[in-house]
Amino acid sequence: MTVKTGKETAFVTGAAQGIGRASARRLGQDGFRVIAMDRNAAAVRATAAALAGEGLEVVAGVADVCDRATVAAVLGAEARVDVMVCAAGIYGDAKFLELDEESFRRVLDVNVVGTFIPAQEAARRMGAGGRIVTISSRGALGGTRFAHYVASKSAVIGLTRAMAMELRAARIAVNSVAPGFTDTPMTRSAPPEMFAAWEALEPEGRAADPAEIAHAVAFLAAPGTRFITGQTLFVDGGKSLGGLSI
Ligand SMILES: NC(=O)c1ccc[n+]([C@@H]2O[C@H](COP(=O)([O-])OP(=O)(O)OC[C@H]3O[C@@H](n4cnc5c(N)ncnc54)[C@H](O)[C@@H]3O)[C@@H](O)[C@H]2O)c1
Repeated sequence: MTVKTGKETAFVTGAAQGIGRASARRLGQDGFRVIAMDRNAAAVRATAAALAGEGLEVVAGVADVCDRATVAAVLGAEARVDVMVCAAGIYGDAKFLELDEESFRRVLDVNVVGTFIPAQEAARRMGAGGRIVTISSRGALGGTRFAHYVASKSAVIGLTRAMAMELRAARIAVNSVAPGFTDTPMTRSAPPEMFAAWEALEPEGRAADPAEIAHAVAFLAAPGTRFITGQTLFVDGGKSLGGLSI
């Protein structure tokens, strides 16, 4: 049996920007060695360099979450795998009646298969005490103009629960963070008036800061949280509570 020494190692997919980047930063601040993974090589290298410049132990790993060989190569290069955060994801805006199969399959592929592959590769290398954190979305509850995204994020929650049940005997915890509307390059790619309209729909009239999502990721990635498994933690200022309010 290999004796693991040194800092715990956390892998974060989609770490070049947005929620993944904020999670990589927070985990670095929490004392992890962090492997920031992304398919965008230049961007993830720049992110890792910037975070290392803050005194954090963050290195870049170039991998496409839909390509098992690249994911396995990044994980295999490290001595230990303690935490995997699956934050890579894509979004698309399309009315249901106009949504085409290619877009639907692409969103399912990146968001669901792209969670399955890194989670499975990580679980195969984790010992007892490992933690996997997926990123679903409040969108899993439903929404208009993004049926493929809603379907994919519901699937991430189901996958999280299934993984938690199968991996509990191995004492690996699997949980999901479901962010609400968050200020990232993904949402900033929308026209400014649409971004403003979305913000106005939020309970506090603002988007979440990625660091607020990373706070929940860090909680579920912490060693002491291992007894929590199969859960989805909504981080959305309470919007998912629904109901009527004045
Ligand atoms: N921003 C929001 O409002 C919001 C809300 C709920 C959930 N989420 C989810 O949070 C996660 C991060 O979102 P974000 O807003 O930071 O997005 P973002 O677009 O700002 O960043 C996503 C990152 O993932 C990377 N990525 C995409 N496809 C990849 C692939 N195949 N392989 C490797 N890397 C890939 C991109 O290069 C990018 O760096 C996503 O899963 C998203 O669905 C976001």
